[in-house]
Amino acid sequence: MHTNIVTCTAPVNIAVIKYWGKKDEKLHIPLNSSLSASLDQKDLKTTTSVVAGTDFTEDELWLNGKKENVESKRIQNVLRLIREGSTVEWKDDPNYKLRIVSTNNFPTAAGLASSASGYCCLVYALAQLYGCRSDLSAIARLGSGSACRSMYGGWVAWEMGRDHESSVAVQVADEKHWPEVQILVCVVSDVQKHTSSSDGMQQSVRTSKLLADRAENIVPKRMEEMKQAILTRDFHTFADLTMKDSDSFHACCADTQPPIYYMNNVSHHIVSLVQSYNKKVGSNKVAYTYDAGPNAVLYIADEKHMVEMLKLLHIYFNPSEGVQRERPFFDNEYLLAKMSTL
Ligand code: ADP
Ligand code: DP6
Ligand code: CO
Repeated sequence: MHTNIVTCTAPVNIAVIKYWGKKDEKLHIPLNSSLSASLDQKDLKTTTSVVAGTDFTEDELWLNGKKENVESKRIQNVLRLIREGSTVEWKDDPNYKLRIVSTNNFPTAAGLASSASGYCCLVYALAQLYGCRSDLSAIARLGSGSACRSMYGGWVAWEMGRDHESSVAVQVADEKHWPEVQILVCVVSDVQKHTSSSDGMQQSVRTSKLLADRAENIVPKRMEEMKQAILTRDFHTFADLTMKDSDSFHACCADTQPPIYYMNNVSHHIVSLVQSYNKKVGSNKVAYTYDAGPNAVLYIADEKHMVEMLKLLHIYFNPSEGVQRERPFFDNEYLLAKMSTL
């Protein structure tokens, strides 16, 4: 018997310029470039162990304690590319079978980017196991588009590119660049979304003219403005662009046939609270953004405003008084997250 074991962790990333739509479904080439921050792995993370051994009878993938389909196209594409870039002599030996065991310490498929940390972690762990030296962000992209951005810490752009080699993530600024910025994840609901991101974006590409306009005429300029805002630490502009882009993405979902609604009433209440708060303080100190789910992620200018926001959220969304989350998740109602230190 011969076994090799590797265990890795990977961060979630939350986009401030959203990826929604593929130009190439097979290669996961997106309609537009996107940009995100990777969160500190103390808070939300995936942990994945991969074992290759001669005493297993077949490959297996376990996610959060449940056996998943290891034959899926995404997993097989990832494995193929890892093996192609591998330097170990047993890489194509049929006697070696894989056991993959992964857990997310946060809700899976609920709009908190589990596919991003999940596939990033899987690819990174497999690359260690197989001694693979290829660009891992491109391989992670074939698992889930957003996963390519989790390969780096700090502020990360996924440049859409034209082909497999050019559609990769690049770091815009590291996690020390803007230490004042706080990230607050408000878990509104931990239930699995009704429409997966992949299905949702496919329907939008097919039916939404607004999405085509967004990708072609709005996002390219916004990407440049966003990079500038981050590099110059201009929080007011950063927040303005972040909220506009989240709104634009959800408008495209609503423009899809049949319409897709990921946000719920609580999500909309949080939007109003952030808008009123910014108005009261006279400039943007908080930005909301929503992925394909109802959960709010707030980017906050600094600790002082984080404390104020937490107080307000407790007043307005305290489960015993205000609008309630559908189900409790963490003991602490709000989850604090910082920038990644990956
Ligand atoms: P999310 O908003 O959480 O990213 P998606 O619809 O994009 O939701 O993707 C969810 C899917 O990602 C899951 O159903 C599963 O197939 C995959 N996934 C999530 N976590 C992991 C993981 N740790 N390892 C492998 N695949 C994962
Ligand atoms: C709304 O990366 O999950 O979170 O590439 O089909 O796996 P697939 O989709 P996925 O889509 C993420 C969509 C988003 C925006 C973003 O993270 O940029
Ligand atoms: Co996802």
